[in-house]
Amino acid sequence: MTGFISASRAALCGTLLLLAACGSGQDGKPAAATASAAPPPAASPAIQKIYATTCSNCHGRPGTGAPQTGDIQAWAPRMAQGREIVLNHIINGYKGMPPMGMCMQCSEDDFVAVAEYMSGAKLQ
Ligand code: HEC
Repeated sequence: MTGFISASRAALCGTLLLLAACGSGQDGKPAAATASAAPPPAASPAIQKIYATTCSNCHGRPGTGAPQTGDIQAWAPRMAQGREIVLNHIINGYKGMPPMGMCMQCSEDDFVAVAEYMSGAKLQ
């Protein structure tokens, strides 16, 4: 019971952190996720869930060295590498990025969808 409560609290904090990070919009551009709690239309609930339980631990937490969700400038050169290279970096790991982003049950399509969600860019 307590475990469940603290788990949901952790998830909530993650969401708040994410909103705070997005809201601070370093360059004054509107962030991908604005003040409303509504998810960006591109991300399905399943993708949201993968993001919230794994990727957000780093990509929604400044100071981890990971490009932050909604930081379009940080993501642009990475996404520009193209689908094959980015997928390879996700699956095999890349510097501080752990193999499969610690989502062992995720499919390639999941990874692409989450990367597009975090970056606000499409993988070609
Ligand atoms: C333990 C922390 C951590 C987790 C969890 C994590 N990442 Fe990362 N990720 C990083 C870091 C750090 C980098 C930056 C690596 C670098 O370039 O130095 C990164 C980079 C990336 C990149 C860019 C790779 C490139 O070619 O520049 C993608 C895409 C990515 N992560 C996707 C994901 C996805 C999708 C998930 C969840 C399934 C995820 N990450 C989970 C830490 C993490």
